[in-house]
Amino acid sequence: MSEPSIISERRDRVLLITLNRPGQLNALSADTIAELNALLVPADKDPSLGCIVITGSEKAFAAGADIKEMQDKSYQAMARQDYFAEWETFARLRTPRIAAVNGYALGGGCELMLMCDFAIAGRSARFGLPEIKLGVMPGMGGTQRLPRLVGRALAMDLILTGRTMEADEALAAGLVARLVEDDAVVETALQAAQTIAGYSKPATLLARDAVNRADEVSLSEGTLFERRVFHSLFATSDQREGMTAFVEKRPPVFTGN
Ligand code: HXC
Repeated sequence: MSEPSIISERRDRVLLITLNRPGQLNALSADTIAELNALLVPADKDPSLGCIVITGSEKAFAAGADIKEMQDKSYQAMARQDYFAEWETFARLRTPRIAAVNGYALGGGCELMLMCDFAIAGRSARFGLPEIKLGVMPGMGGTQRLPRLVGRALAMDLILTGRTMEADEALAAGLVARLVEDDAVVETALQAAQTIAGYSKPATLLARDAVNRADEVSLSEGTLFERRVFHSLFATSDQREGMTAFVEKRPPVFTGN
């Protein structure tokens, strides 16, 4: 049997997933996404799971989709298989997820990062969408998610030149949320994940639903959606607990109800 493409480890209410194709700089294969979805589709429904952290190795978060797997494909095969459509399943998971990025996050690796809610990166991380150099273009959401995050001009620059961006520039552009020392990346992401997982799950799920809604609708529709889901949280006992704990000057204990 071949090595699994991912390794997962449950730490209390957090799931840590490590991409595990070191010989290929964690290039994302058909097996990678099949294993991710097999693990995460059921996990997404687990009320005791509060947050997911996805990381790679010191050298590479992921250096792209697996070029060797795609190299000989025909247009007909790509279209028939709707190649990369499985990544939409991953992108639609509701559990909050953080990308913990060291080394290269290129092509599909950068696009995987863009499918996470935010990224924490090391100072030596490198980002880019170099597909243009291979005679193709981004195919895992990069042309849609990157301009929404960093603006059209910088997204066009990265997608059309294929250049690699350093960590400082990625932080300034808003591509990553935090930069830390390389050896603190995973620990910092796990701490953020534990923090998120300690809050009321209905609140974290609906907060990210509301933020994601902004990509789809007008400002007035988005703020209406926000207000309605905000109101709905007053049906939870966690709202009562959170506000009562504040007034009683004690830490809240959320149950997800
Ligand atoms: C398959 C890959 C790979 C990839 C690296 N490897 N990236 N295999 N797919 N995306 C393999 C190499 O072939 C090599 O295996 C091993 O990993 C180590 O890589 P090296 O190139 O020897 O390492 P290094 O010299 O340090 O260079 C690192 C690198 C370079 C700069 C990251 O590997 C690189 O440029 N990789 C490709 C980056 C890229 O173009 N990504 C976009 C992919 S397309 P062997 O067995 O040869 O030693 C994509 C498509 C999305 O993501 C949708 C559009 C269709």
